[in-house]
This record gives sequence, C-alpha cells and structure tokens, in this order.
Amino acid sequence: MRIGILGSGLMGGKLGTIFARAGHEVVFSYAQSEQKLKRLAREANGKAQHGTPREAAQGADALLLAVHWSRVGDVLNQTGDLSGKVVLTCSLPLNDDDTELVVAHTSSGAEELAKKTPKARVVGAFNTVPSEVLFGVYEAKRKAMRPSLVYCGDDRDAKQLAASLIRDVGFDPVDAGPLRIARYTEPFALLVAQLAYEGEGGPELAYRFERFAK
Ligand SMILES: NC(=O)c1ccc[n+]([C@@H]2O[C@H](COP(=O)([O-])OP(=O)(O)OC[C@H]3O[C@@H](n4cnc5c(N)ncnc54)[C@H](OP(=O)(O)O)[C@@H]3O)[C@@H](O)[C@H]2O)c1
Repeated sequence: MRIGILGSGLMGGKLGTIFARAGHEVVFSYAQSEQKLKRLAREANGKAQHGTPREAAQGADALLLAVHWSRVGDVLNQTGDLSGKVVLTCSLPLNDDDTELVVAHTSSGAEELAKKTPKARVVGAFNTVPSEVLFGVYEAKRKAMRPSLVYCGDDRDAKQLAASLIRDVGFDPVDAGPLRIARYTEPFALLVAQLAYEGEGGPELAYRFERFAK
C-alpha cells in the first residue's frame, strides 16, 4: 500500500516508520524542516520517501493526518484535492496548550475534518494511544495478546483498510462504529493520555478490551 504521512512528528514519524518497516511505500511530509523528512525516510529502512503534502497524497491508498489541530487547515490547503481518498486521522481537536478538547460531545475532530473534506473517506484511528507505545507494540506483534485499538468511520472499505494498517502496527482493531463515535473515542484518548503521562509506570501504555462470554 502507498501511504502519505501528513505531519511527520511524534505520531506521523513513528507510524510512518512502522508502516514502511511493515512493507508499505511511505511518503513523509509536513515538518518544519526538509532535513527531518529526509532523515525519517532514510531511517525507515523501507520504501520510504519524503515530499510535499501534495506529493504525499498523489497515488496514495491512504493518508495519515497527524498534525496539531491548529495546523489542520494549513496542511489540507497544501495537500489539495482529497476526493475519494482514505484519510486516517489521529489528530485530536485540542486547544493551543493541549489541555482541552475544543470540539466535543456534539461533534468531534474527525467529524469536523470530514466536513472540511466532504469527498474524503475519513476514519478516526491511532488517536487513543501515546506515540511512546507504538514501537513497543510493533516489536511485540507476534505475541498472542495484542492491545486493542478503536477506530471509527462511515465508509466500509476505508475502515477495512484502516483495520489492516492497525493490524500491521501490532494492535487488535476494534470497530467502534460510525464516525460520530469519535465523540467518545477522542475524550477516551485524553483519559489514556492522562494515565500515560500522569500515571505511574511511564507513557508506554496501551489498552485491551476483553469480552467475558457467559
Ligand atoms: N503524541 C501523541 O502521543 C499523540 C497521541 C494521540 C493523538 N495525538 C494527536 O496527533 C496529532 C499529532 O501529534 P504529534 O504529537 O505527532 O505532534 P507533533 O510531534 O507536534 O507533530 C506535528 C507535525 O507537524 C509539523 N508542523 C508543525 N507546524 C508546522 C508548520 N508550520 N509547517 C510545517 N510542519 C509543521 C511538525 O514539524 P516538526 O516535526 O518539524 O516539529 C511535526 O512534524 C495531534 O493532533 C495530537 O493531538 C498525539
């Protein structure tokens, strides 16, 4: 699969690296220095390149949006037409100091993104885990007990693609339903962040849902 990374920071840099190591073609884009994008592409050790957001979107089977909420408009402007594209977003609609959701309860970041890009197929994914856990999950992926990762969206094929990438990273994908469920997954992401950054034991935290059948 060809995956364009829009925002190559903590989340985009790590997920792009993992996607490349899992065998995908990755294009890293949108950082404050081209040197950083070059380095990411070189160190991903796979079929990774760097480019502009527009180049990242060209021919991409999926895009990962991984920028601060305040940068979403800018990166979308630079990306151009997203008609028909699968856009996975891990971006949380946080205020400038990352203390509060600025969209919540009656909408979500993922839904607002879908309104801004009405022809794209938006899936909310990878937003409920801290970046610090991603390489650990990837390295442990052959083990039986995978951590869960919730995702949501309205397009069936886009969700299938998201589930396959979630599996490639080493998580067990949990379909949480339509995109409006991001109203619940995004606040949940803040709970996970609270436990990761303020709890004991460090930020390398993931979660797992289990069913106990009668
Ligand atoms: N970090 C986490 O653990 C985590 C977990 C769940 C969800 N999220 C969400 O995921 C999204 C990304 O978070 P992150 O932690 O990966 O953020 P980040 O590390 O700050 O990455 C954002 C990327 O945007 C780039 N950028 C910022 N301003 C720019 C500009 N003016 N021009 C070009 N590029 C610019 C940054 O460039 P540089 O690389 O040069 O700084 C960086 O590559 C956020 O919405 C966050 O809420 C994060």
